[in-house]
Amino acid sequence: VTGRTIAEEKFKGIMANAPGPATVVTAFDAGDEPHGLTVSAVCSVSLHPPLALACLDLGSNTLAAVRESGSFTINYLAQGRDEVALGFASKSATKFDGHYWIPPRGGVGGPILIDHVAAHAVCRTEQILPAGDHVIVIGLVLEGGADKERHALAYARRHFFTGKEMAVEQGSTLEEGSG
Ligand SMILES: Cc1cc2nc3c(=O)[nH]c(=O)nc-3n(C[C@H](O)[C@H](O)[C@H](O)COP(=O)(O)O)c2cc1C
Repeated sequence: VTGRTIAEEKFKGIMANAPGPATVVTAFDAGDEPHGLTVSAVCSVSLHPPLALACLDLGSNTLAAVRESGSFTINYLAQGRDEVALGFASKSATKFDGHYWIPPRGGVGGPILIDHVAAHAVCRTEQILPAGDHVIVIGLVLEGGADKERHALAYARRHFFTGKEMAVEQGSTLEEGSG
């Protein structure tokens, strides 16, 4: 990188300020072993065709499995799964121990952490774009689901929270305003 860029701590402060979803991106390696990591850099990209992206560190072990299988699953963690998010943010080889998961129906994609998710999206990798010390993995969403009873977990400023909590705050403001 040439020229002047923002100081690292300042950049982190800005980016940590904005809420992102707490997800676990999973993939099977060539030997069918499950891999996964906590990712907040996930978003929807396109509706026609349905595309989503995840930004993965070049050093991620899960990225190797994404490359090997050409597919991945975005597990959007549910409210109260803070410990799951923290557990998958490690390099441990036993991350999946104690977590129930199922393979996607179509045989393509990574493990679905069915007990922990508010929603999930099973993706076939369309593109892997280099982006600094990360790659942008773009996936075509083949199947998935959203659980109406569960709220998704979000992450900002090193804290977990949910859309439900935001809805309550908004609701109370509206009530005050109308009263
Ligand atoms: C809340 C949270 C969000 C994270 N977001 C990302 C992310 O967007 N991309 C990424 O590559 N790593 C992210 N990480 C870090 C990875 O989860 C961590 O480096 C993990 O150990 C990588 O595991 P792996 O090498 O087994 O794939 C995040 C961690 C936490 C706690």
